[in-house]
Amino acid sequence: MVCSSLFDNARHSFHRPENKIAPATSTVSGRFKRFDSYFGLAFSLLTQTTRLASALALNLFVASTALAEDAGNLYNTPFDISAGRSYFEKQCSRCHGFDARGNDEVGAPNLTGKLTRASSSAGIYAILREGISGTAMMAVDPQVPDAQLWQLAAYIESLSRESASIAVRGTAEAGKALFNDVAECLDCHMLDGKGGRLGPDLSTIGSQLSPDELALSLIEPSAKVAPRWWSLTLEDKNGIERSGLRMNEDSFSVRIMDTDSQLWSYPRSALRRVIRSEESTMPSYAARFSDTQIDDLVAFLYSLRPEATP
Ligand code: HEC
Ligand code: HEC
Repeated sequence: MVCSSLFDNARHSFHRPENKIAPATSTVSGRFKRFDSYFGLAFSLLTQTTRLASALALNLFVASTALAEDAGNLYNTPFDISAGRSYFEKQCSRCHGFDARGNDEVGAPNLTGKLTRASSSAGIYAILREGISGTAMMAVDPQVPDAQLWQLAAYIESLSRESASIAVRGTAEAGKALFNDVAECLDCHMLDGKGGRLGPDLSTIGSQLSPDELALSLIEPSAKVAPRWWSLTLEDKNGIERSGLRMNEDSFSVRIMDTDSQLWSYPRSALRRVIRSEESTMPSYAARFSDTQIDDLVAFLYSLRPEATP
């Protein structure tokens, strides 16, 4: 029997879970988490007066994208990236997702890989100022200061940089062998067209998650679960329960997929209760695998990128 308040508590205790694992390559985002606030923003803005001066100079240039591009993004210190992330989580995550990996339902693209419409901070800046006409991507409020948009751009750029150049501790070969031995990963995940549908496709997961995030997803799967992978327990009017991944929900009906990948659809009127869980259905491998094995698995998963697959 599950109770939703229990899950709420669980969510709270997982708040900022990244701090729990000691990152191999202590990432910028981890170290500066404390500044992840307006305080951090104000701090970084007020103390770095010299940079403010150069920012003013930059402001004169923004009318000309080419010049701005030449000047590069002056707001790309760890402070800025952290401020950018915080702003992103408040203003952009409802469409692009908390992890910036996009949302098919609103057509908001994944921003963690190569962007289609921008190849530099200046390009991102221009999108933010002007929006993309004819789409849900609107220009940001003109009152938002330039500095904040450059920080946002720096954050978005950092997402693809991070996933392109982090050294990992484990060996991908060993991780691959382990992945194939523990065949159960494929019960739930697809890899290159083979496997199950009870979890995200892992074919290009290396370009979407950093090694730290990959490790976290193996050790603490519930730390961060996209709504797509939430599950529901439905109790019908006869008291019979059925659980599964939440496939879709509207005011009239609820659809779930059970562990046999079977779809079940219920009219809401037939249900007595709908209990939502934001926990992952993936088991934690923290106890099953040694640290070395986790490192190896991470190295393997991290090697799964579009350019690496033939
Ligand atoms: C209302 C939903 C919505 C919000 C809010 C939103 N976006 Fe978007 N965004 C979109 C959509 C939809 C697109 C794709 C438009 C297209 O190219 O068809 C997009 C495209 C983009 C792109 C271009 C991606 C590429 O591959 O070139 C960037 C960059 C971007 N958004 C950043 C942001 C940032 C930063 C914020 C927060 C300030 C934000 N967006 C807020 C919906 C949104
Ligand atoms: C019972 C089904 C199940 C099994 C078994 C399982 N997973 Fe998962 N996995 C999921 C689900 C559901 C998610 C999405 C929710 C989440 O983030 O935990 C997920 C998420 C992940 C993610 C993060 C993906 C993303 O897009 O955020 C990785 C990486 C991953 N699993 C790897 C593995 C590996 C490696 C194994 C085997 C050692 C494994 N999983 C076994 C169901 C499973």
